[in-house]
Amino acid sequence: MRLKKMAAAGTAALVAVALTACGGGFEAPAEGSAENTGGAGAPEAETVFKVAFNQNADQPEAVAMTNLGEHLAERTDGRYTLEVFPNETLGAQKDTVELVQAGTVDFALVAGSLLENFNPDFVALNLPYVYDSQEHQEAVLNDPEITGDLYTSIEDQNIRVLGGFSAGTRSVYNSSHPIEKPEDLSGLKIRVMESDTNTRMLELMGGTGTPMGQGEVYTAIQSGVLDGGENNESIYSNLKHDEVAPYYSYTKHLMIPDLLITSPEIFDSMSEEDRAVFLEELQAAFEESSELTATVMTESQAAAEEAGAEFNEPDIAPFREAVKPLLDEKLTTDTAKDLYDKVRAAAE
Ligand code: GCU
Repeated sequence: MRLKKMAAAGTAALVAVALTACGGGFEAPAEGSAENTGGAGAPEAETVFKVAFNQNADQPEAVAMTNLGEHLAERTDGRYTLEVFPNETLGAQKDTVELVQAGTVDFALVAGSLLENFNPDFVALNLPYVYDSQEHQEAVLNDPEITGDLYTSIEDQNIRVLGGFSAGTRSVYNSSHPIEKPEDLSGLKIRVMESDTNTRMLELMGGTGTPMGQGEVYTAIQSGVLDGGENNESIYSNLKHDEVAPYYSYTKHLMIPDLLITSPEIFDSMSEEDRAVFLEELQAAFEESSELTATVMTESQAAAEEAGAEFNEPDIAPFREAVKPLLDEKLTTDTAKDLYDKVRAAAE
């Protein structure tokens, strides 16, 4: 839903109505509640696109999207801007994909894994150890020769992918002991993102994968429902998972991209010229976020150590070996295999 600029209270009421109308399982925050304020301040423009984000407003992607909104407003003479709603304010990622499909939310940043539920070929971007480095991943994500067809493949389900951010490297952490080898994960319940691939991956790595939205993880570990999770250093520290799961082991098994999704109808409602400006600024946002990411990860590790977390560097070869069957199990179509080959070729 595109919102014309209006008083905050009116906006909140509209959102609540729209969210109710689309019948999603998500409750809109109460009017006037602290949660109801986007992290990006109050942008001025005729049309304010809402961007759903599940992490805090200081994360590189949120900063870059907020700046994109400002540049967009300037370059479209105030026709468009963006407002980033951080911290799952508009729902967990799974909900926000549905809200984008329904046209209730204009854009969402979601982990690539979630789009496997709409087209399993997305798996080629989300497999363990598929990328050699952040540079490799970024070269793949925004090269139309590699990802162009994939990104438009689910338009019949009202989702268009506009590009992808690198969201760091993920490793496992838990409340019990450092992980040195796959056997050390035996008996541990580790939260994974909501795709079958991730559940199976964790099983192959030696533990048990439990799919869940990011916002519930802290309490689940604290109450013993989970033993840990797997994520980058920034989420680990920012969401204070280090308090309840102080052993962070650098298995470095995943680099999951965060993809920017919208609905074709929303995006194409802009003129061709404005769309071109948006896409140009999006490239700049990718670059800005990329530069911030490395720093944020290093600072987050230091903050977690300060808070008492213990980091260790296991030999990753046995983990890499353990997850190999996932390739055959998941790359089941020619398109997915071809995509995977192109991703790997970009590393060379
Ligand atoms: C990271 C990633 C998100 C993802 C989250 C998660 O924060 O950037 O896209 O949702 O991890 O583990 O759920």
